[in-house]
Amino acid sequence: MYYDKIKQQLLGAPKVWLITGVAGFIGSNLLETLLKLNQKVVGLDNFATGYQHNLDEVKSLVSTEQWSRFSFIKGDIRNLEDCQKAVEGVDYVLHQAALGSVPRSIADPITSNAANITGFLNILVAARDAAVKSFTYAASSSTYGDHPALPKVEENIGNPLSPYAVTKYVNELYANVFARSYGFKCIGLRYFNVFGKRQDPNGAYAAVIPKWTAAMINGDDVYINGDGETSRDFCFIENTVQANILAATAPDNAKDQVYNVAVGDRTTLNDLFRSIKQALETNGIVVSKSPVYREFRAGDVRHSQADVSKAKMLLQFEPTHVIKHGITAAMPWYINFMSK
Ligand SMILES: NC(=O)c1ccc[n+]([C@@H]2O[C@H](COP(=O)([O-])OP(=O)(O)OC[C@H]3O[C@@H](n4cnc5c(N)ncnc54)[C@H](O)[C@@H]3O)[C@@H](O)[C@H]2O)c1
Repeated sequence: MYYDKIKQQLLGAPKVWLITGVAGFIGSNLLETLLKLNQKVVGLDNFATGYQHNLDEVKSLVSTEQWSRFSFIKGDIRNLEDCQKAVEGVDYVLHQAALGSVPRSIADPITSNAANITGFLNILVAARDAAVKSFTYAASSSTYGDHPALPKVEENIGNPLSPYAVTKYVNELYANVFARSYGFKCIGLRYFNVFGKRQDPNGAYAAVIPKWTAAMINGDDVYINGDGETSRDFCFIENTVQANILAATAPDNAKDQVYNVAVGDRTTLNDLFRSIKQALETNGIVVSKSPVYREFRAGDVRHSQADVSKAKMLLQFEPTHVIKHGITAAMPWYINFMSK
């Protein structure tokens, strides 16, 4: 697998990486993988939705020597100086910091705009000025908006359905304009519903898999918005980490592009409920309650499924985990986390 080859190369010739949003779900998983590959990592986060305990957990999973290669900056991407400090001496930027969640952006579009657009522009300018080797950023499947076609192909997008989707689309526009205006070529990864360990199960804006898993472990009700036939291309975190490392190290002809990052499958919420229930039961947790159906949620698209052939072709992306493998892999972490 090409990814293994890249990992071997990185082990042989370590690089300096910046992960923004390093205390979050995806950021902390990137951190864990890169430190295990003996890379030097700078992390930036303001703990808006990320946690010190995510960093502490990574620390417990790597060697003391590997951990010593990590330096953390508590800072805010809305502040240009914090961004400038973070990019100093960096080879590869993995920009993950943003305020996620469609409903959060509907409730407070100004705060989402500041982090996701102003913050994006700040880190982009800082990275351009520091002449980093590559800049990879978290884009989003929400950019497909109301485009009806399935599976989603990168060039066919519709109208955004939420402020969050606007912010993520603006990232793509800026990235493209930076290639034209300054020759600074980025890669945007349109993530489709990523899940796995360290994804926050708490709070009003938790994603569906951690939220339901926590509810089932606690014996609480699980709410399904709509009839349960809404579907998503759920992507296990290992696949997302792989896409980031491949994008960061990709050749020039793969840059100034956006890529779908998912598996290429579609799972309904009803099927998801059954999968989580089954995986928990395998771990000895009996789920006796049926889901509670309620209204569809504003801003949600009905179906989502990625065509990942572009990432396969240009980045040599090969997803290793389908949803069932990912759910099986993630459950022990949630059971442990919820018992703390
Ligand atoms: N999880 C998904 O399914 C998914 C899907 C599509 C896109 N994305 C994107 O992937 C990225 C990472 O998402 P995640 O799921 O890990 O979310 P997360 O909330 O766990 O992580 C985001 C991190 O960014 C930090 N952050 C937010 N605003 C900041 C600011 N102004 N300055 C510095 N740090 C800031 C947060 O504290 C947090 O640690 C985001 O850009 C998100 O929009 C995620």
